[in-house]
Amino acid sequence: MAEENREMWGSRIGFIMAAAGSAVGLGNVWRFPYLVGMNGGAAFVIVYIIVSVTVGLTILLAEFCIGRATRGNAVSAFKSLTKNPLWRFAGWLGVLAGGFIILSYYSIIAGWTIKYTLHSATGLMDIALAGKSGDVFGEFLLNEKLVIFFQAIAMLITTAVVANGLGKGIERACKVLMPILFVLLLLLIVRAVTLPGAVEGLKFYLLPDFSKITGPAVLDALSQAFFSMSIGMGIMVTYGSYIKSTERLHTSGSFILCIDTAIAFLSGLVIFPAVFAMGVEPSQGVGLTFIALPGVFAQMTGGAIFSTAFFLLLSVAALTSMMSLLEVSVSFLSDEYKYSRKAAAWISGIAITLFGIPSVISLGSGLEIFGMSFFDVMDNVSNRVMIPLAAMGASLFAGWVWHERAKNEITNGGTVPFAAMGLWMIGLRFVAPIAIAVIMVYGWPF
Ligand code: PHE
Repeated sequence: MAEENREMWGSRIGFIMAAAGSAVGLGNVWRFPYLVGMNGGAAFVIVYIIVSVTVGLTILLAEFCIGRATRGNAVSAFKSLTKNPLWRFAGWLGVLAGGFIILSYYSIIAGWTIKYTLHSATGLMDIALAGKSGDVFGEFLLNEKLVIFFQAIAMLITTAVVANGLGKGIERACKVLMPILFVLLLLLIVRAVTLPGAVEGLKFYLLPDFSKITGPAVLDALSQAFFSMSIGMGIMVTYGSYIKSTERLHTSGSFILCIDTAIAFLSGLVIFPAVFAMGVEPSQGVGLTFIALPGVFAQMTGGAIFSTAFFLLLSVAALTSMMSLLEVSVSFLSDEYKYSRKAAAWISGIAITLFGIPSVISLGSGLEIFGMSFFDVMDNVSNRVMIPLAAMGASLFAGWVWHERAKNEITNGGTVPFAAMGLWMIGLRFVAPIAIAVIMVYGWPF
């Protein structure tokens, strides 16, 4: 589609904030810290940063280029570029993984944040002060109907917004809310690191012990980099399609990487001091953030207010990410099967909500397949198998098949310099695909 006819991001900062709005979410504040906790701490953080810069940024830029060059969404972009079913399959994998599987459990965690927003003002602080935030979290998960209720609310809001079109709303909201979340995190760090016992947490988070790095840990780091930057699912292709042709993609991409990594890193600086100060087991998994954070708030003057504000912002960050996830299946259904936007949004919204229920049950009273909880199976299938494969597809495609146009696109038709061009190509052709292949073999979850 010609640039004049297509809706464009209002400004450079608007685009960066909207892309950051998709990238920054529960992945940074919930998933990153719990993976750090399960994978032994600081060494994992270092591996994560390395793979984000080498593999993550490389693929992020490729997705932006593909999106901007074709001005299409995740599905139509690949379709217009190639007839080879292999590349299209990679696109499909991403749609299924991101638009369906990830959203089905992401919405559950988003539901938790909504619940915690309300609970913050109604007794959560007293519970946390009594050292009971872990017990209360456990009880909440067992109350499956309540969890499903909050998950459904998160999905309802997301679906309603997406059904009416993404529009400028997302851009505007992200521009205001992201900086506030950032400032709140900084405040929390000050409180968390001055808690008694916090130093042990800082050691765990910042002093690496490389013997903790195993195959699955490296795969976790890689898949977290994809998850956190929203890549491998065609989302950044779609977002790229709204970028002006004069924008410097590599500058914007690097900014987004920095914002995303910074928010994840800062979240860890809040969570781990708190985890150790409260005597919580860092490897205890998905509940880590929800157990540790109330503990920090409870120790602050005006804790209930801070806690409400923080979980509210986290809900918003989660919802903006959910909207970008739902947009994947909506654009797929409306392009491929000619559904209207509204119909596509409600069909996918309802199907995804229902598909999330087994995950809720598996976190509550238990539901296992392959000897793993259903939730873990969904997480592993999408993040350790489908998305790495889809990302590898995008990387190989941009590096080997589409490289001349990729080079043209990243330099805005040869008008802006890109000093790292050689490195980028090496990254696309060799480093990213080989790293993904090796890591998948060593970290295979099943
Ligand atoms: N990147 C988002 C986060 O970190 C989650 C997400 C994943 C959003 C995939 C879109 C696509 O929370």
